[in-house]
Amino acid sequence: MAKQISRQICKTLFSFFLFVILLSDTALSVGKSINLKKPCKHFLFHLHNVAYDSDNTANATSATVINPLGLGNFDFGKFIIFDNPVTLDENYLSKPVARAQGFFFYNKKTTYNAWMAFTLVFNSTQHKGTMTIMDANPTMEPTRDLAIVGGTGDFLMTRGIVTFTTDLVQGNKYFRVKMDIKLYECY
Ligand SMILES: *[C@@H]1O[C@H](CO)[C@@H](O)[C@H](O)[C@H]1NC(C)=O
Ligand SMILES: *[C@@H]1O[C@H](CO)[C@@H](O)[C@H](O)[C@H]1NC(C)=O
Repeated sequence: MAKQISRQICKTLFSFFLFVILLSDTALSVGKSINLKKPCKHFLFHLHNVAYDSDNTANATSATVINPLGLGNFDFGKFIIFDNPVTLDENYLSKPVARAQGFFFYNKKTTYNAWMAFTLVFNSTQHKGTMTIMDANPTMEPTRDLAIVGGTGDFLMTRGIVTFTTDLVQGNKYFRVKMDIKLYECY
């Protein structure tokens, strides 16, 4: 009789622990899911690109390094390297909060498509670290989402989305892009 009771207790305990394990596993997977409406960090920045045009050496922040001619009307093959200032407001002369360092190239013959890979480098009292962005940027679309694929320092191992909106284009000399940054993984 006593043996039977202790066996029953064992069984109950076992199923209780199984239940706890299952429950904690569910809790963990719920914790890992990402709420796209609630980024863990959110920033609004403006990126300024001053193209080098042979008479603005002092102010240029980007340079075309390859420019094959004759491949259609959308700059196919053009390759640009940049070290652009990133500011909190739209003013090009405002104190930069970060630099955007990287490159893009045009890789579509039917429309403008700038494929980009660059790093936002932060080195201020507010933020130290990097966020790396890599994606297609179909520049004629009103807004474009690009993937934030990682980071270091204050943005260690981050992931997220940056939404680009072109603010202003002045011929081939200057453009300004609004960057709406939403991070979904913060550590
Ligand atoms: C650089 O930019 C400043 C401010 O826009 C302007 O006053 C200056 O003439 C520019 N210098 C060159 C070399 O383009
Ligand atoms: C960051 O800023 C500090 C202080 O101005 C400077 O000493 C350091 O070289 C900078 N680091 C980078 C990577 O630019």
